[in-house]
Amino acid sequence: MSVIKVAILGFGTVGEGVYKTIQSHAEELEGLLGKKVVVAAVLIRNKQKKRNIDNDVLITSDFNEILSLPQLDVIVEAIVDKEPPYTFLKQAIQKGCHVITANKEMFAHHGNELLMLAEKHHVSVGYEATVAGGIPVIQTLRQLLNVNRVSHVQGILNGTSNFILTEMREKKQSFASALSLAQAKGFAEADPTNDVEGYDAFYKTMILSRIAFGDEPNWEDVEREGITSISSELIEAAERLNLRFKHIASISKVGGQLKAAVKPALVGKSHPFYSIEGVENAVNVQSDIVGSITLQGPGAGMFPTASAVIEDLVFVCQDQPTNKNFKLTTTPAFSKEIQEDVKEFWLIHGLSKNYRNPSIVFVSKDTEETAIIQATREEIDTLMNQQKARCYFQILGEHERAYKNDDVTIAVL
Ligand SMILES: NC(=O)c1ccc[n+]([C@@H]2O[C@H](COP(=O)([O-])OP(=O)(O)OC[C@H]3O[C@@H](n4cnc5c(N)ncnc54)[C@H](OP(=O)(O)O)[C@@H]3O)[C@@H](O)[C@H]2O)c1
Repeated sequence: MSVIKVAILGFGTVGEGVYKTIQSHAEELEGLLGKKVVVAAVLIRNKQKKRNIDNDVLITSDFNEILSLPQLDVIVEAIVDKEPPYTFLKQAIQKGCHVITANKEMFAHHGNELLMLAEKHHVSVGYEATVAGGIPVIQTLRQLLNVNRVSHVQGILNGTSNFILTEMREKKQSFASALSLAQAKGFAEADPTNDVEGYDAFYKTMILSRIAFGDEPNWEDVEREGITSISSELIEAAERLNLRFKHIASISKVGGQLKAAVKPALVGKSHPFYSIEGVENAVNVQSDIVGSITLQGPGAGMFPTASAVIEDLVFVCQDQPTNKNFKLTTTPAFSKEIQEDVKEFWLIHGLSKNYRNPSIVFVSKDTEETAIIQATREEIDTLMNQQKARCYFQILGEHERAYKNDDVTIAVL
């Protein structure tokens, strides 16, 4: 019986998860694909490390040895950094292999080139694992976009940041101790910059933007802010108003232009992200026929991420002559614009006591430090320029409009 021959680049959290899943789900895969899936080779950096890999699998640190394997069907890439993974995948495609990647940084930078090259060589590129780990967000969006027009995509795309914000609120911890706990639990790297400064979420947002809107905004125009400015004091002030901080990626089309931001925002109880806690991820898609859909689930980890890779493996190996290539479309996808002059709610922390503004709908009673304002984006920009040393956070979605709490005034809208 013929086989599907796979090589896995990287044998860390993701690579090992893929290897184990191919073994544990061998029967299901064979049933689906009509062929046995065999891992022929694994690429690693350190040959001295002991690994749980069968003796008949080639273990190498030389990618050329993998490229020269006869009849290799699929290369799964689960390494880190942009290079050498980009070069490896280009070479794999040129050799006629399907490729699947979990590497969002590389794919945000080079996804287009890989997809174009794959089209030329009649192979497919799978990248479900690059966004929101185990949540099948890319497949779902692709399916939805067959007919729906998407107006807005929002996501909690970084589990580490969400874990830290949850710990800070629930256990009244400082940012530093919540980060230490995330590191101790293996949710954050020794250098957490990519996660807590919003870079990881930014890369995922750019990949999502291409899927949902067929394009991405200029990277320089995207507001990217991490969670390092969110203090325990701010979290408490928000909690008194039944609001929670979440690190949110958002993409929409406004005035003919794609707008994206990756930054902390506040959500009220009725927002689908209010209950997304800990390392969970979520993606909310608003589109014209179906309305609002929220997918939530594990955004990282060995098996959730392996699940996304294996879904891609099935997809690229199944004989589907149409719609086979996993495209980042370069032609505009159907999309719906959202209005520019909508009034949004914003929480402002640190306003001076005597500050007056007709847009204020609520001011906290004792300190008058926290206010909620309803204003257009232009009005908020003006205010930000006038009152620079304040913290401004958008409140997303519907939220309670009567702020009942002992120490706050109830505002009537
Ligand atoms: N971890 C997650 O939950 C998750 C979720 C979604 C996406 N991702 C993405 O998936 C990728 C892999 O993540 P991970 O967490 O599995 O990383 P990891 O645990 O650090 O493992 C990385 C693996 O790649 C190998 N490697 C690194 N550089 C290499 C090179 N130049 N040549 C050959 N092998 C090299 C390492 O080899 P050695 O073992 O010899 O050091 C290691 O086996 C990353 O791009 C990450 O962003 C991760």
